[in-house]
Amino acid sequence: MERTFLAIKPDGVQRKLVGEIIRRFETKGFTLVGLKFLKVTRELAEQHYDVHKERPFFGSLVEFITSAPVVAMVWEGDGVVAAARKIIGATNPLSAEPGTIRGDFGINIGRNLIHGSDAQETAQREIALWFKDEELVNWQPHLTSWLR
Ligand code: TYD
Repeated sequence: MERTFLAIKPDGVQRKLVGEIIRRFETKGFTLVGLKFLKVTRELAEQHYDVHKERPFFGSLVEFITSAPVVAMVWEGDGVVAAARKIIGATNPLSAEPGTIRGDFGINIGRNLIHGSDAQETAQREIALWFKDEELVNWQPHLTSWLR
């Protein structure tokens, strides 16, 4: 079953949007298989955003993601990687469609509330980086047959 990695960033936590953001993936019908609340270390932040290390915004991105706690999650379901990206919306909240998380709540590209893996391979890398195997729960909701 396909899985993706999502993280509610420090701005989402500080603005008390954790419940609102989780609700959107839950009511869509995806299944939560991992969840933790943590203060991100510089080392984890740099590894997570390694692909952006040459970009001018890398330093401020690492500063931001380590500035306050985040909610790290793994969600499961058919097509969850691409669907979560749609639910999240475009990187720049000013371009993100209304109805998406970033479109509804964000105004700043550096404060765009949530991270979501951009492809299945990225998801696998990010899940392994943020979660130990034993922190993920293998389970299926009883409603599976009509939700998926
Ligand atoms: P990226 O992986 O391109 O976006 P997404 O989060 O939608 O997958 O960029 C990672 C984060 O870096 C992005 O969420 C916000 C930040 N960022 C900036 O601060 N400035 C920028 O110009 C870009 C492209 C990203």
